[in-house]
Amino acid sequence: MASVTPLSASVEQQLTSALSATLPEATDVDPLLRRSDRADYQANGILALAKKAKSNPRELAAQVVAGITTGDVIKDVEVSGPGFLNITLTDRAITENLAARYADGDRLGVAPKAEPGITVVDYAQPNVAKEMHVGHLRSAVIGDALRGMLDFTGEKTIGRHHIGDWGTQFGMLIQHLFENPGELAPAAEVDGEQAMSNLNRVYKASRAVFDSDEEFKERARKRVVALQSGDKETLELWQQFVDESKVYFYSVFEKLDMEIRDDEIVGESAYNDGMPETARLLEEMGVAERSEGALVVFFDDIRGKDDKPVPLIVQKADGGFGYAASDLTAIRNRVTDLHATSLIYVVDVRQSLHFKMVFEAARRAGWLTDGVTAHNMGYGTVLGADGKPFKTREGETVRLEDLLDEAVQRAAEVVREKAQDLTEDEIQERAQQVGIGAVKYADLSTSPNRDYKFDLDQMVSLNGDTSVYLQYAYARIQSILRKAGETKPAAHPELELHAAERALGLHLDAFGDTVFEAAAEYAPHKLAAYLYQLASLFTSFYDKCPVIKPAPPKEIAENRLLLCDMTARTLHQGMALLGIRTPERL
Ligand code: ARG
Repeated sequence: MASVTPLSASVEQQLTSALSATLPEATDVDPLLRRSDRADYQANGILALAKKAKSNPRELAAQVVAGITTGDVIKDVEVSGPGFLNITLTDRAITENLAARYADGDRLGVAPKAEPGITVVDYAQPNVAKEMHVGHLRSAVIGDALRGMLDFTGEKTIGRHHIGDWGTQFGMLIQHLFENPGELAPAAEVDGEQAMSNLNRVYKASRAVFDSDEEFKERARKRVVALQSGDKETLELWQQFVDESKVYFYSVFEKLDMEIRDDEIVGESAYNDGMPETARLLEEMGVAERSEGALVVFFDDIRGKDDKPVPLIVQKADGGFGYAASDLTAIRNRVTDLHATSLIYVVDVRQSLHFKMVFEAARRAGWLTDGVTAHNMGYGTVLGADGKPFKTREGETVRLEDLLDEAVQRAAEVVREKAQDLTEDEIQERAQQVGIGAVKYADLSTSPNRDYKFDLDQMVSLNGDTSVYLQYAYARIQSILRKAGETKPAAHPELELHAAERALGLHLDAFGDTVFEAAAEYAPHKLAAYLYQLASLFTSFYDKCPVIKPAPPKEIAENRLLLCDMTARTLHQGMALLGIRTPERL
């Protein structure tokens, strides 16, 4: 692995040393480098520095310019406006930088961080015996992309699928199964669809008896007690619901082209044993107090409509533990046993108050220490074309598989229309990659906390900011590379570059910085925006700079093929971090 210093960093370094030579008392020197239309980069931090040092910005800028040696990397630097510097790089530096990245394989010259932390990502957390909905889709897609990006930066990530596998609702289900054994086929014998339809049937049947038969209701209530006290037979029946549900979950995740590991499915029930201790410690430390029989935590700044404080309930008056207790116990496990330095919860923004209270309580208890960050990446709602929460025409929640199947179907139409030399099997395979990619990209390309419209027509459109557009850009480059035949990508640093080549080259140089920024800010949409811009810059480069026809001189062709191939590799890597495939042919 050979890491390559970004050109922006070399420029920044030179500026910083020129600045501190001119203004030795300036300690927080920050040249604030931006990509600019007028030159390759513009530095505008000098204005602020000059103000601080009470010196003339134009003069300071001129002194800095005098302190910079032009040549290898910087071709030209000039003062523009008060305290602004316009910086132009040499063509040679751009090509050599690309060549070095090209030689580094998949990492594209991007070094992983020297001191990685451990991030526990809580995502893709459906509920046992329940159908998954679009909210679960968002959590899965965003969480998976976050992990991809974080892993690339060298961070160690651990996934936690905090599935809803515990609670009083299991009393009814288990009691029904106890009285009607054989209603759930063994998990090993069913596929995802059968599993879910079995679970739905059992749910409906048990609900009907529960609502109409008082005696059954009472037996169901006793069953909850048996479950909580660890009765063996009851636990076995409960396990059947969990296993059957997992078959279903896995089938959906597989459709989503997402790898979920069994050892990372650690549901609410996994924290049962630790919950009494969590409650005891909170009470002993005075973080929680008894109120009307329940054990609760109060917060000064969290109040309801009537200005009454809204408490976090750790233990109910009847002794039962709920959602908050399992999350608090999970934090202890993640920090103490997994040694997490960051916790992310990719959970619907509507649960943000819950997490605010849980984090605050955990901080007071000393379980979340200063060295550990905790963040609820609350995502917005998926809306239908009418701008209202996404529902079927009948007003029901949309089944996740139906939605994914429809996306793949639409993608098949798009692929078929464009396909020239693809067999029907190939079309189907591409349709999977295009359809699922479209769903993921639509989700990831908007800021996660915003709502977004689920609009399949727009998602699979070839024009605009879609994954299909990026996938086509990638496939097109593969076709160019094939057509180039014997001419292979090779660097020729002595060549002069076209403005479109320079723009593309500099953008390629920024891949690592973009991934690091997007990962640190938990902002996959920043990587998506980068990739979209990359494809656009490629399009204008390919428009203006012939690669194959009309054939340019050999060196120029080779150098341009290098730009092509680097664009393809960067697209491929970037999309892979987001969980999206890039087929070789489309
Ligand atoms: N299962 C929950 C739901 O469907 C999400 C769990 C989120 N994670 C957590 N640690 N509470 O709404």
